[in-house]
Amino acid sequence: MILITGATGYIGSHTWVELLNAGYDVVGIDNLCNSNIKVLDRIEAITSVKPKFIEMNVCNSNALKSLFNLYSIDAVIHFAALKAVGKSVNNPLEYYKNNLGGILELTQVMSEKNCFTLVFSSSATVYDANNPIPYQEGMPLGSTSPYGWTKLMSEQMLRDLEISNPNFSVAYLRYFNPIGAHESGFIGEDPLGIPNNLMPYITQVAIGKRPHLSIYGNDWLTHDGTGVRDYIHVVDLARGHLKALNYLMSGKGSILVNLGTGKGFSVLDLVKAFEKASNRKIPYQFAPRRIGDIAAFYSDSARAQKDLNWRAEYDLYRMCEDSWRWQSMNPNGYE
Ligand SMILES: NC(=O)c1ccc[n+]([C@@H]2O[C@H](COP(=O)([O-])OP(=O)(O)OC[C@H]3O[C@@H](n4cnc5c(N)ncnc54)[C@H](O)[C@@H]3O)[C@@H](O)[C@H]2O)c1
Repeated sequence: MILITGATGYIGSHTWVELLNAGYDVVGIDNLCNSNIKVLDRIEAITSVKPKFIEMNVCNSNALKSLFNLYSIDAVIHFAALKAVGKSVNNPLEYYKNNLGGILELTQVMSEKNCFTLVFSSSATVYDANNPIPYQEGMPLGSTSPYGWTKLMSEQMLRDLEISNPNFSVAYLRYFNPIGAHESGFIGEDPLGIPNNLMPYITQVAIGKRPHLSIYGNDWLTHDGTGVRDYIHVVDLARGHLKALNYLMSGKGSILVNLGTGKGFSVLDLVKAFEKASNRKIPYQFAPRRIGDIAAFYSDSARAQKDLNWRAEYDLYRMCEDSWRWQSMNPNGYE
């Protein structure tokens, strides 16, 4: 049995589908602080499997113990965390409490219950922004936000745990910028309130919910002056988790990899690709750069290819097509 925490969230729900399609027995937990219970019906519609789900907080040690008593859990994929970089700056303690509390309680209970296999959601935000691009796994680390520090500190805690208990094997997966949605249009990214991320903002402009897109900075040192990022289809990302899980379960030990496409696209590249895929115009305005933003980063994805035999398959156009299908089939998200 595989446990997914943060299972009803954006990446969790897509990974859950991939695991069920691959024949895994899965139980999902989530406290629904940033997701919707209706995801469960959608997962069932895609996979024809009724998802096993328990609503709970991953920081609740007693609830975790009961869960491990109820199911014989072989491995955990840990997504549950708060993820808004900007909010973490205004509310750092909430982020440290939730994200570090979650990993602490989870690994403590895992140790007690002899479950030593963990896939951890890390992030490209753990790389020092002064690194040259593409980012490679061995490059210096650092962060500019409390959110990023929670990921960096979690990685450190897990490394220390591995040293103290060599039974543990951990996959540290550093994601770049997931966008897109399942091809069915049944599940996708459903942000509460004003989207923090670019793609949901674009799709909400396309559907008429927001008047225009603000693009922060048009004087970056990039090919068209707008910021460059490594966008990766969420289904490719989900499949990376399956590869990582198989790697750990085959007893090869821990692994640290970037999950990105290895290609950088600018905000304007993304807007143009989206306009083509959706046949809609995206009005935009340039706004001043935001503090803390950087011109460009993307992954070196060679290690994931070599060690996990994984590479991203979907291109930018497909990411836009699937994001648009999700938004147009669900103008108000899951509601
Ligand atoms: N989406 C991205 O751009 C991105 C990039 C890099 C890393 N990540 C990491 O990937 C993971 C999943 O991200 P996502 O985009 O699916 O976010 P998401 O917010 O859609 O999913 C996270 C889920 O965790 C749940 N959750 C949060 N705290 C919890 C707690 N204490 N107990 C139980 N459930 C809790 C939320 O309700 C939500 O359903 C996160 O750890 C995030 O930091 C995301």
